[in-house]
Amino acid sequence: MPIALITGASKGLGRAAMYALAERGWTLVVDARNGGELRSATQGLAEVTAIPGDVTSPDHRSRLAEAVGTPGGRLDVLINNASTLGVSPLPQLADYPLNALRHVFETNVIAPLALIQLLAEPLTDASGTIVNVSSDAAVESYPGWGGYGSAKAALDQLTAVLGAEEPRLRCYAFDPGDMRTEMHQLAFPGEDISDRAEPHTVVPALLRLVDERPPSGRYRAADLAIPEVAR
Ligand SMILES: NC(=O)c1ccc[n+]([C@@H]2O[C@H](COP(=O)([O-])OP(=O)(O)OC[C@H]3O[C@@H](n4cnc5c(N)ncnc54)[C@H](OP(=O)(O)O)[C@@H]3O)[C@@H](O)[C@H]2O)c1
Repeated sequence: MPIALITGASKGLGRAAMYALAERGWTLVVDARNGGELRSATQGLAEVTAIPGDVTSPDHRSRLAEAVGTPGGRLDVLINNASTLGVSPLPQLADYPLNALRHVFETNVIAPLALIQLLAEPLTDASGTIVNVSSDAAVESYPGWGGYGSAKAALDQLTAVLGAEEPRLRCYAFDPGDMRTEMHQLAFPGEDISDRAEPHTVVPALLRLVDERPPSGRYRAADLAIPEVAR
């Protein structure tokens, strides 16, 4: 069975992707910082190894790589999904605390690249797929979204260059669109977000990347969505 590593799998999109791949019988390595929430999300999933920890920690990333089986192992899919919104309510760039911005870049840019570097061999051996979860904030200029958005823009560019540098891999920046999750609620504190899509509705689009392996690039879930009639 294929093996995938999904970061940030205790809730939201990461958890929905984990359930979908576990249902297919894939072997999975997953993480999140809150060990209790990660344990309850993975309960009953036989082929899932849960490693609690923070993607910004080099030690934690090493433990993830060990769980994947490096050296000598293979990794079919890496989903860099864990991410931080940064300061909430979202500040204007003129007021953005720089240490908080550093942490946003550490989590949303440095950590995904660090995992890619650490797992380059098992990914290449498997002619694997990297999905870096991005956002429309990477390409739109929404006031307040400059910290998170500029980090996602950096992640997009990093993904694009990797795609050019690593012809044996598929490297995707995946924009899931708005989803009803804790992160989204943090971006809109106190607002009713019940009209946003449930994260599991985005998973079929993500799985199209994994299954069909189109050319490396940036993809929006909305453009990959499978029409109801075709399902
Ligand atoms: N929701 C949206 O509308 C939306 C729109 C565009 C893009 N996105 C992107 O979609 C992805 C998933 O977001 P979501 O809305 O599903 O978020 P979510 O529901 O808040 O879940 C985030 C997951 O990541 C984990 N996580 C956060 N920071 C981590 C860290 N430093 N190390 C390890 N795990 C960490 C969280 O668990 P712990 O807190 O326990 O660590 C949780 O499991 C993110 O990349 C986000 O930027 C979301």
